[in-house]
Amino acid sequence: MSGNKTFTMIKPDAVKGGHIGAILEQICGAGFRIVAMKYTKLSAEKAGEFYEVHKERPFYGELVEFMSSGPIVAAVLEKENAVEDFRKLIGATNPAEAEPGTIRARFATSIGENAVHGADSDENALREGSFHFAGTEMF
Ligand code: RTP
Ligand code: MG
Repeated sequence: MSGNKTFTMIKPDAVKGGHIGAILEQICGAGFRIVAMKYTKLSAEKAGEFYEVHKERPFYGELVEFMSSGPIVAAVLEKENAVEDFRKLIGATNPAEAEPGTIRARFATSIGENAVHGADSDENALREGSFHFAGTEMF
């Protein structure tokens, strides 16, 4: 994976809310191409490993419990300037601060249950994509 790719998850709250279709439509409408995608569920152990970088943060336990509470959609996306453009498309972590029209402004309910994940650097996009997908599952 190179600098034109990012990694995303549609989180359990947005899946439960029935927003998979609308979110994928917004992502593809914004010019991202799907490189890899799966509908899956993280165990608490896997969610803990994925968010290991936040281990010392006060919300870590809550985050791991939430991310393993139901199915998610994981995907690798491609577009020029993917990481930065995708973070713009999803909006601020706290939906109350997210720009109108962004995915979090439209679908997130709180700072914890905020509908989507977006990788925050090329390096993390690569790490997170490889965490969920084998090379043979990316097209
Ligand atoms: P993400 O990694 O999921 O794309 O979110 P982000 O970069 O916008 O935010 P980050 O600081 O990486 O936090 C990861 C996720 O932890 C939950 N969180 N809860 N209760 C809280 O204060 C709090 N702060 C963060 C959110 O689910 C956030 O997306
Ligand atoms: Mg983050």
